[in-house]
Amino acid sequence: MNLDVSQAMSVHGEMGEHAALWLAHHAYPCSHIVEIGSLHGRSALAMLANSDAHLWCIDAWGEPSTTTLEDYEIFLENVSPYVEEGRLTVLRTHSHLGLASLLEDYGKESFDMVFIDGGHDYDTVKGDILGCRPLLREGGLLSGHDYSHRKGHPGVKKAVDELLGPPNRGAGSIWWVMV
Ligand SMILES: C[S@@+](CC[C@H](N)C(=O)[O-])C[C@H]1O[C@@H](n2cnc3c(N)ncnc32)[C@H](O)[C@@H]1O
Repeated sequence: MNLDVSQAMSVHGEMGEHAALWLAHHAYPCSHIVEIGSLHGRSALAMLANSDAHLWCIDAWGEPSTTTLEDYEIFLENVSPYVEEGRLTVLRTHSHLGLASLLEDYGKESFDMVFIDGGHDYDTVKGDILGCRPLLREGGLLSGHDYSHRKGHPGVKKAVDELLGPPNRGAGSIWWVMV
């Protein structure tokens, strides 16, 4: 497996190269992946460039005050080759609405992998975990970013620990469990 995250690392984002490589490695065998929280597309590009998977990106760009319409436009430009290829579906909406529409459109257990990196407060992470859980097939990978007190995201750790127990740790501050 020859992983390449150079394109991903060339766009703005906080995720480090090791975490991007972790995502690339785990996306590689997948066919259907959901990402919550895409910003400019760093994590999305790490997965798209290293797999043949179809990726659904859910992000409310401009709704949480942390992002703007300009961020959405930058994302679209960064991922445009994959949209043209027909491997990327963009859901510009709040995660609970996006997850509900995926469940309605594709049904339970339709996805191989979920990566959660949207809102980092306790309630949002809890809602994202509960909302995406039915989408994953048996043996699917449920993962997310920023499982760390030090980076100032106590809500991520609290929600993950409460719902899933202490998770496995991937590169950087990635957490994951197999369902
Ligand atoms: C930390 S950034 C994602 C970083 C991205 N994964 C990367 O690799 O660069 C968080 C993103 O989640 C989005 N977001 C925050 N809360 C959300 C919510 N409740 N529903 C959907 N998107 C949300 C923001 O618009 C932002 O783009």
